[in-house]
Amino acid sequence: MSFVTLHEVGPRDGLQNEPGVISVAQRVALVRALADAGLRHIEVGSFVSPKWVPQMAQTDAVMAELAPGPEYAVLVPNMRGWDGFAAAQKHGGYAVAVFVAATEGFSRANLNCSVAESLERAAPVIAAAKAAGVSVRGYVSCVTDCPYEGQVAPAQVADVVARLFALGVGEVSLGETIGKGDPARVSAMLDAVMQVVPAEALAGHFHDTGGRALDNIAVSLEAGLRSFDAAAGGLGGCPYAPGAPGNVATEAVVAMLHEAGYETGVDAEKLALAADMARGLRGKGQ
Ligand code: HMG
Ligand code: MG
Repeated sequence: MSFVTLHEVGPRDGLQNEPGVISVAQRVALVRALADAGLRHIEVGSFVSPKWVPQMAQTDAVMAELAPGPEYAVLVPNMRGWDGFAAAQKHGGYAVAVFVAATEGFSRANLNCSVAESLERAAPVIAAAKAAGVSVRGYVSCVTDCPYEGQVAPAQVADVVARLFALGVGEVSLGETIGKGDPARVSAMLDAVMQVVPAEALAGHFHDTGGRALDNIAVSLEAGLRSFDAAAGGLGGCPYAPGAPGNVATEAVVAMLHEAGYETGVDAEKLALAADMARGLRGKGQ
């Protein structure tokens, strides 16, 4: 029986897309419900500029409420973010994630710098995390498509993944950011990436905008990946288009994996409760 590791990203990737700011108490309640469902890796926020992403402000206050148990991850784009994270850390159960893009267009829009500059900013964060014994993950966005540059060549993705991996991250999460990839193009991308980084060090992060996320996970499993990101309730869709899919829903991924005979450690019934709670937060921000 093969085990698949799930990284729950709803409290970060889901709630960051909400039109309003969800309260700290509601964010904490969601994280606790997800932990109760058996999720062992939960992304709980970001130490980014609150002017850019106000929804993730007060991640330090969220962290302060979380008891040890699962590994709680936060996004950290630069040393300013690392300092915020380090000050907020109350126990050893946290991980950080740095994030870069395969394309210059998305890097500028998301991080206000080039891909090379984003890697330069990530390098000291990775070094600080390793020195502090904090595990560190790296995201590469736009692994098949970019909202600014269209389809992205697999070799270009492999190049950025290799540069990020060489900086020392434990795992690279491949971000299919806008949900336009299909299984054939995801496979081609994975073929190129797996020339430079082994499947054991890769995760799939699929948005479901085009309805292909589960198919893309299926081809990634075939390629040997055993780590995936997902958001309970499919949070992360466009708040102005009710029902529009966002991140692939954790409950759909768990159902597919269990059906196929994989273990996840997740209790599907408790996850359904957490997913209800997540969906209930939609449009509830201030
Ligand atoms: P910048 O404006 O280029 O940075 O932003 P700066 O160094 O010039 O600083 C500007 C201001 O931000 C200053 O404040 C800094 O102090 C402050 P001011 O003087 O104007 O008051 N600042 C910070 N504040 C808090 N925390 C920090 C920090 N750094 C600087 N860490 C910056 C650069 C990275 C900060 C900005 O571009 C930013 O915050 N971007 C947000 C990126 C983000 O969170 N995007 C969403 C997550 S990524 C994602 O969703 C993709 C993923 O899911 C995978 C996928 O789907 O592909 C992971
Ligand atoms: Mg994402």
